[in-house]
Formats: sequence, structure tokens, C-alpha cells
Amino acid sequence: MTTSTEMSQLAIVTGASSGIGKATAQRLAADGFHVLAGVRKQSDADKIAEVNIEPVILDVTDQTHIDNLVERVASDPHKRPLRTLVNNAGVAVNAPIEVLTLDDWRFQFDVSVFGQIALTRALLPALLANKGRIVNITSVGGRVAMANFGAYSAAKFAMEAVSDSLRREVEEFGVTVVKVTPGAVSTNLTDSGLAAAARIADTMTPEQHERYDELGKAFTAQAEGFARDGVTPEHAAGVISRAVTARKPKTRYTIGRDGAMFTFMPRIASDRFLDTVLRSQNKSLAKTKS
Ligand SMILES: NC(=O)c1ccc[n+]([C@@H]2O[C@H](COP(=O)([O-])OP(=O)(O)OC[C@H]3O[C@@H](n4cnc5c(N)ncnc54)[C@H](OP(=O)(O)O)[C@@H]3O)[C@@H](O)[C@H]2O)c1
Repeated sequence: MTTSTEMSQLAIVTGASSGIGKATAQRLAADGFHVLAGVRKQSDADKIAEVNIEPVILDVTDQTHIDNLVERVASDPHKRPLRTLVNNAGVAVNAPIEVLTLDDWRFQFDVSVFGQIALTRALLPALLANKGRIVNITSVGGRVAMANFGAYSAAKFAMEAVSDSLRREVEEFGVTVVKVTPGAVSTNLTDSGLAAAARIADTMTPEQHERYDELGKAFTAQAEGFARDGVTPEHAAGVISRAVTARKPKTRYTIGRDGAMFTFMPRIASDRFLDTVLRSQNKSLAKTKS
């Protein structure tokens, strides 16, 4: 529900051109925030602009874009405080670790870890001044590292650690840090992830194909399942809205039943048990593609 307090506040959402970020920008605008929606292309800016959604060109790996956004927040014409930063932008680079190049790792970390940290640091003074909130969109991949998800999971595990450290550093100064952990959400990430995986698979040697083609089939089947069975971005945005607006937020919100299950599972299951479950799941998934 919209309150006059929210209407007078700024919220930033990164990666707002599509999927969870776009739905979140629209949801927070409907909640009454003035949303600064980070997109990388002018065409996406034109598509998302509407009442209470102001597109800003933001590649989180570009320090000039970050500096411009800090300046935009500081010089708000209505002197609205920055209430929330939703770190949502992300990419997925999936391949076996033997095959991933260091450039693949750097790309994954540049966007999904260093970009988030750079933006968070730059906006922290404004968030501290306003007792604001940082909402980091993590993943079940940051709780359980499946085969073929090494780089993506490593980035998401890193953001788990960053979120926990930051929360313990700044909570006493009034800034809350909340993790939102989605399971499968039906978005473009599936297609872009499959395209990246196919590009990397093209570089594999015949021996690597022999070792990993079955895993590749399992990944394709799993990604297609994510797109087919995942919750909608609007559902995800509803959960993120709760994380943004709750008076006393939890440290983590999960999205979807799989989000809740994979968040909880590593607390009770042994590594070996998870190995067995995930291996058998991959074998069944691969069969559907044979
Ligand atoms: N979908 C799922 O099942 C799922 C599950 C768990 C976690 N997540 C997480 O949810 C978040 C959103 O993903 P999504 O599913 O909504 O995927 P998506 O539709 O592909 O959205 C990703 C967004 O990130 C943006 N982006 C990529 N590189 C960027 C960069 N360097 N700087 C700024 N923005 C950048 C993209 O912009 P462009 O359009 O310009 O590329 C796009 O707006 C990600 O952090 C993802 O890891 C998703």
C-alpha cells in the first residue's frame, strides 16, 4: 500500500531492463517510491520510463555510471532521501570448472560481485545518512553449488558473505541489509545462460565433451525447467517489496518453494547426501535430453 512517506523516498533497482529487476522497479513505483531504474541501453530506458520510474544508465562495472548515479541521488530536485538500493543486476556463466577460462570468471565476478560492491560502497554514505536499506538479490546457487554452476555459485556465495559482513557492520548505524534468495524465476536469465553455456561448450576438447556432455544436457533440461516452472518476476517482485518495506525485516526472504528448500537444505544435509541427490537429479535430467 502506498504511503506518503514512501512517495517522498528514492529507491534504486539495478538490472531493471528485464525479469526480476523490471518487475521490482514497477512494483516499488506502485508502492509509491520514486524509482531510479538502472538499465544499460537507451532503448530499455525508453521502455521502462513511467510515472515514478526514472531510468538511469547504469552498467555496474562502469565507475562513471556509478558516479553519475551518486550525483543524481545527491542532487534530487525534491530532496528525497535514498531509502533503498536493490542490487539485482546479474549474469550467469555456466560451465564445468575445467572448461571455464579466467576471463569467464572475471566477467561473472565483475558484474555479480565487484559491480555490486562498487555501487554499494558509493551509495553507502547516502544510505547511512538516511538509515536506508540494502536488498541483495542472491540465489539458491549461493547456498548449494551444483555441478556446472561453479562461477555463478562462487559469485553468489561471495555476495552471501558480503551481505552478512555488511549487515554486521552497519546495522548499529541504522542501515539494514537484507538478502532475497530466489529459486527458479521465469526470466531471460535462462536464455542468456544457455547462450553463454553453448559458447563455452564450443571451446571444449573432444575429451572434455566426453566428460561433460551429459552434464551439459542436464543443465539445458534444468534451465528449460526454470523457464517453464519458475514463479513469475511479478511474484518475485512482491517478495522484494516486502523485504524493502517491512518495518522489521528478516535477514533473508526466499522466493518460491525451491528457494526455501535449497536455502534450508545445506543446514541439515551432509555434503555426501547432497552429492548423491544432485548426481541422480542430473542423470534424470540428462535422460530427458538424450
Ligand atoms: N531467474 C532466476 O531463476 C534467478 C534465480 C536466482 C537468482 N536470480 C538472480 O536474480 C537477478 C536478476 O536476474 P533475472 O532472472 O531477472 O535475469 P535477467 O532478466 O537476465 O536480468 C538481468 C539484469 O541484469 C542486467 N545486467 C547484466 N549485466 C549488467 C551490468 N554489467 N550492469 C548492470 N546491469 C546488468 C541485465 O541488463 P541487460 O538487459 O542490459 O543485459 C538485466 O537487466 C540476478 O542477480 C540473478 O542472479 C535469478
